[in-house]
Amino acid sequence: MSVRIAPSLLSADFARLGDEVSAVIEAGADLIHFDVMDNHYVPNLTVGPLVCQAIKPYATVPIDVHLMVKPVDALIPMFAQAGASIISFHPEASEHIDRTVQLIRSHGVKAGLVLNPATPLSVLDHVLDQLDLVLIMSVNPGFGGQRFIESALPKIEAVRRRIEASGRDIWLEVDGGVNADNAARVAAAGADTLVAGSAVFTGGRYADSIRTLRERALAGRAQTFAHESSHA
Ligand code: DX5
Ligand code: ZN
Repeated sequence: MSVRIAPSLLSADFARLGDEVSAVIEAGADLIHFDVMDNHYVPNLTVGPLVCQAIKPYATVPIDVHLMVKPVDALIPMFAQAGASIISFHPEASEHIDRTVQLIRSHGVKAGLVLNPATPLSVLDHVLDQLDLVLIMSVNPGFGGQRFIESALPKIEAVRRRIEASGRDIWLEVDGGVNADNAARVAAAGADTLVAGSAVFTGGRYADSIRTLRERALAGRAQTFAHESSHA
């Protein structure tokens, strides 16, 4: 049983991005979460493949690219080339979800589908067996530092059940407003990968923040396993 912590660079110091990547990895990050926003699918505008390529030499852990862009397909080869290990996209941003998933996989990159707070689970119906990761948004995408939306918790539980039923090793990642206060509940609901932007970068004590998130998440998961085995 393990939990992955993925600091989101959205809350890092963009003038010192390479050093920030090194610092969070040194502090225990398992992944680097890289938020790509286009001022079209979401109101904000961030970074593209050039910046991904620039941080790649610093990233000794996988780069987890979260595409909040529409359309999405043209950027996939560019991010694969720039060193992405995982590419996730929003179904609303693709005309042909299955094609986009296959495009990601054809580049040897892990494929993820992202569910917004109001996106129904039915988008997973015919594509789950092609996915390496499901990303549940616990805020509406576009900005760091927003408040966690509680309705994400039953949704995480429902996706966890679907993943267990599939029998495949699909990661379940949660993104938005994750912090030390809710990490246990997020993990208890079934998440194994926690994105955290402001909770890691605010205050500057990266190792302490990552350790706390991991400890709370592991405690949350242990609780669920104990509960499940008592009902077995
Ligand atoms: C929001 C981004 C998140 C964001 C998380 O659209 O996808 O990755 O950076 O930031 P916090 O953890 O501060 O909510
Ligand atoms: Zn994100």
